[in-house]
Amino acid sequence: MKIIGPFTQVVTLAQLPLRGSLADEQLEILENYSILEDEGVIVDIALHQQLLSDYPDAELVEISGDAIAIPGIVDCHTHICFGGNRANDFAMRNAGKSYLEIAEAGGGIWSSVQHTRNADENELLASLLTRIHKLEQLGNTTIEIKSGYGLNVDAELKMLRVIQKAQQFCKATLVPTCLSAHLKPKDFEGSSEAYLQYILTEILPIVQAEKLSNRVDIFIEKSAFLPDESKVFLEKAKAMGFTLTVHADQFTAGSSRIAVEVGAVSADHLEATSEEDIAYLAQSNTVAVALPGASLGLGEPFTPARKILDNNGILAIASDWNPGSAPMGNLICQASILATYQKLSSAEVWAGLTYRAAHALQLSDRGRLQKGMKADFLVYDTNNFQNILYQQGEMIPSAVYISGEKI
Ligand code: NIG
Ligand code: FE
Repeated sequence: MKIIGPFTQVVTLAQLPLRGSLADEQLEILENYSILEDEGVIVDIALHQQLLSDYPDAELVEISGDAIAIPGIVDCHTHICFGGNRANDFAMRNAGKSYLEIAEAGGGIWSSVQHTRNADENELLASLLTRIHKLEQLGNTTIEIKSGYGLNVDAELKMLRVIQKAQQFCKATLVPTCLSAHLKPKDFEGSSEAYLQYILTEILPIVQAEKLSNRVDIFIEKSAFLPDESKVFLEKAKAMGFTLTVHADQFTAGSSRIAVEVGAVSADHLEATSEEDIAYLAQSNTVAVALPGASLGLGEPFTPARKILDNNGILAIASDWNPGSAPMGNLICQASILATYQKLSSAEVWAGLTYRAAHALQLSDRGRLQKGMKADFLVYDTNNFQNILYQQGEMIPSAVYISGEKI
């Protein structure tokens, strides 16, 4: 049992609603409070002196000077298991080349697939762990990670096994997702419908048997999979027992509707969603995930986060860190920029980075600092939590606690 504190501010995010807009006045900010944890769970949050007298035998981890505590970040959408590097794609896009021209010149998702297929498990694991450790230092205590650069049985399973193995070497919770339906690989002989069927019969049963993931994702887009075939695929994956999530409306509107219709836990991207579909999505239980890193990486519009919240939707914010469209990975920086363009309150940003993102991953035990929750929280050496977003990613946590342990 440990008392950690006292903190100038504890920003609990407790009692905030799951859906809709939030005003900063709704934030619970506790001054001179400390956190009592036991076996990785928050047992109490109370005034420091109170905890000292109530729990005289608890170990004291004393915080001196100004410091704030805020829930750990949940990054609910990444593609950080990959081989190779696509800096040349970025340079070519900025020099005016189109997506197609880049793909023809050997770039695009297919280039990451080739490098990922060529990497052995140890190389993939080492580079994945480097990225995970960077994310942990930036305050990510839960990280979703997709496959999708393998695109055949062997390479998709290799990716998912590497992600599973990485969990042994890091403290953050890793949530693996099978994105074999990222693109029809160039070497698959057959239609995209046949490739989706191949995923259902050849890949997903092994994913399930080896407990590599219980989540299935698909990229619905003109250049990837079409709406009708995607819907059939999602329904079949759901019938097998998978939880669904969708890359929706990144460049073309229409697919977030499918995400809602099949009961996906989240619809991610949404840069091109129509007004009508925003309203439809916002009324559903599907979490809308904004990926500002992809907008920044591609020079595309931001997800209409303001409208989603004003329509009472559930908005999460994730990094989409991947070698192509979102090479940065610094989610606080991205979320802070999204906030300036979409006019989001601090409460809306922090909710989107924590308990609302946890909801997209169906994790109800984290994302708020309150009794019974996992003791995942960040300490920043500042007297005011507003400084974190204000500094647009420059301020990093002085300590990151995962399950009550400083990592
Ligand atoms: O979420 N949109 C599809 N997939 C990724 C990009 C993958 C890549 O370019 O490697 C995304 O942006
Ligand atoms: Fe993505």
